[in-house]
Amino acid sequence: MTPRDDGPDAGAAWLFAEQFGVRPSGVWRAPGRVNLIGEHTDYNDGFALPFAIGASVSVAAARRRDELMVLASRQEPGGAVTVALPGLELGSVSGWAAYPAGVAWALRSAGHRVGGVSLAIDADLPVGSGLSSSAALECAVALAMIDLHDIAVPRTELARLARLAENDFVGAPTGIMDQTAVLCGEAGHVLLLDCRTGATTQIAVDLAASGQAIMIIDTRARHELTDGGYAGRRAACEDAARLLGVRALRDIADAGALERLNDGLLRRRARHVVTENDRVLRTVGLLRTRQLAGIGPLLTASHASLRDDFEVSWPEADAAVQAAIGAGALGARMTGGGFGGSVIALTPADAVGAIIGAVTREFARRGWPRPVFSTARPSASARRRR
Ligand code: GLA
Repeated sequence: MTPRDDGPDAGAAWLFAEQFGVRPSGVWRAPGRVNLIGEHTDYNDGFALPFAIGASVSVAAARRRDELMVLASRQEPGGAVTVALPGLELGSVSGWAAYPAGVAWALRSAGHRVGGVSLAIDADLPVGSGLSSSAALECAVALAMIDLHDIAVPRTELARLARLAENDFVGAPTGIMDQTAVLCGEAGHVLLLDCRTGATTQIAVDLAASGQAIMIIDTRARHELTDGGYAGRRAACEDAARLLGVRALRDIADAGALERLNDGLLRRRARHVVTENDRVLRTVGLLRTRQLAGIGPLLTASHASLRDDFEVSWPEADAAVQAAIGAGALGARMTGGGFGGSVIALTPADAVGAIIGAVTREFARRGWPRPVFSTARPSASARRRR
């Protein structure tokens, strides 16, 4: 058996031993997430409904005597990266190492006395697949660092610091959804997130009992949240809120109120957010009354809104959604920030094979690379593994 066959925990521990010549003090693992519904609502003080998944990032780690962060990753073959923690400044680290370095920077800026650390990383969560590999990496590193230094930080505060690393240090102006899902998810539940109050509510979802499955279709079109499209959507939402005289688009309950916006583009962007918040709350209502199949049309409506009003969908996602529904899915939508990444489909479990066939054929017909299929199960949040 090669080290990889045993998943990211074993791979990270193996890389640690290879790189540093000793065994790690521990291995920490953080999952990716799927957002069931509630897209581009988090930075509008709205509602989102994500859950942690099985695919994850593992970090094997140990303290060092010096004040260095030394990083190695099985997914980044360029060799180890060394970062000096004292004097760590915004803009001083680029590329993938900016995520772990940003976490150290955020922890230290908040007054937590974290020092030198050796880290070896492995993942079975593909980068750029829209499943929050960046938040998983941040949160695994954050947990490892505080545990190794015997510091207690509440999970919601840790999510805030991991987001700060991504916003300020990496330069991606994302919301709080991903880090919260990664750190606060519970197996068998989706997480209702009120992004204004920070309140989280676990909502039970029993896929097996209802005979349903949630498929993840990685379209293999890759995305970057630092390249301007995401920031542009955020700015449009802030402009719309300002013109409407509200603190955030969360404060608009009725899409009719958007007629006051003269700019058609801003009106469409805002309409996505206002209708999406409503779809989240309706989804929650159906889940609470165990009507899982009933949420299908809401998922598909969310996709249409992201495609037509918010314009963050991409051709492979639109094709996957359509093919999945044509082959029996109850609903399907892009998940995550958009511009590339993954689609989810809610489907009767016995239609999974037909959907794989239909989507694969459609991608082949269009000359696109074969998508990668998996099933998503609401899973446990980030934790120490060894
Ligand atoms: C990315 C961001 C999140 C959220 C989603 C869109 O995943 O990291 O904060 O804004 O996009 O819902």
